[in-house]
Amino acid sequence: MPEVVISGTGLYTPPGAISNDELVNAFNAWVDRENEKNKEAIAAGELEPLARSSSDFIEKASGIVNRYVVNREGVLDPQSMVPRIPERSNEDISVQCEMALHAARGALAQARVGPSGVDMIIVACSNMQRPYPAIAVEIQQFLSGGYGYDMNVACSSATFGIQAGVDAIRSGSAKRVLMVNPEICSGHLNFRDRDSHFIFGDACTAVLLEREDIARRKDGYRVLGCHLWTQFSNNIRNNFGFLNRADETGVGKPDKLFVQNGRKVFKEVCPQVVKHISDHLESLALTPSDLSRLWLHQANLNMNQLVARKLLGREPEPREAPVILNEYANTSSAGSIIAFHKHSLDLKAGDKGVICSFGAGYSIGSVVVEKQ
Ligand code: COA
Repeated sequence: MPEVVISGTGLYTPPGAISNDELVNAFNAWVDRENEKNKEAIAAGELEPLARSSSDFIEKASGIVNRYVVNREGVLDPQSMVPRIPERSNEDISVQCEMALHAARGALAQARVGPSGVDMIIVACSNMQRPYPAIAVEIQQFLSGGYGYDMNVACSSATFGIQAGVDAIRSGSAKRVLMVNPEICSGHLNFRDRDSHFIFGDACTAVLLEREDIARRKDGYRVLGCHLWTQFSNNIRNNFGFLNRADETGVGKPDKLFVQNGRKVFKEVCPQVVKHISDHLESLALTPSDLSRLWLHQANLNMNQLVARKLLGREPEPREAPVILNEYANTSSAGSIIAFHKHSLDLKAGDKGVICSFGAGYSIGSVVVEKQ
């Protein structure tokens, strides 16, 4: 079976940065306005006042201090608290396709591959801006022939997408696979939900997978193995979908956006991630001490520190489990790939690491790589 390498990665970061203070100011302005509007009902004990948010809580509970979004103004406007992303005509490039091309250019340049060299495109992310035609097929017209499709495994989309690309190359149905993760999480985030308004940011990552013998870059990352796991849970859920119009009573309700039981997610997912990576390493005759780096899903700093500590059996050095969520927040499937993109070039030949994502489903995916 042919060996497969990650020969390039790319990252697109939207220009709109939002600090915790800015986000909290907008949230609290909305809370104060609502409480003022409802002051009589609140005074009469008929209504609970809404609670304010705080930057200190956000940083302590999550490690997040900043996020980037496609549109800042709409998110920070207490009247709307929704990103303003105008619809485009069918003749214009879609927003997700545009983000994906930015990230793809970086991955192709790193691999020294021209756009026509790609023969399969996978768009893997939590939310597609339309059901069809596939975003991947739209991207394809700017690159080459071959074929493309969209897939969604929420926060684990990228690792599941890598597995799909590796399988395609190993089976001979593709030689070069571009896997992209255009995440516009601000579109599904309820910026009026105090428990989660700070969680997400937007970004797009790209990964180029190639058959090792045709790769021009000789210092890429050989994929030693992929391992996927899913188990049904309602603790992270979004009921938005094409059947919503079939029952008007539910349209616009909070469950048509991201909803989670964060505490339960934390408690249930962390041990499973540790077991998942340990089992995966064992199947490759490796142990955690063989790993130079853990590029973990970037949702919560405490979660990542716990996973790294349990896996390594000691406190991890900061460089062993790099953190990007402080700057980017949770960018869903893009998170572990941003960590890999920004913190992998210093590895030496033979060094090994694991890219691991976890999220809704539940779903966990791991990709063990070795620097060439
Ligand atoms: N500002 C200030 N205080 C807040 C707040 C906010 N925005 N949101 C919640 N609080 C308060 C709560 O009211 C609660 O107060 P109480 O103890 O007096 O009742 C307290 O802070 C703790 O709230 P809780 O929601 O239990 O916080 P937490 O420590 O569990 O942190 C998360 C919340 C979401 C950051 C954390 O659970 C998490 O990251 N979980 C995993 C999420 C994840 O990975 N999801 C995957 C998504 S794809």
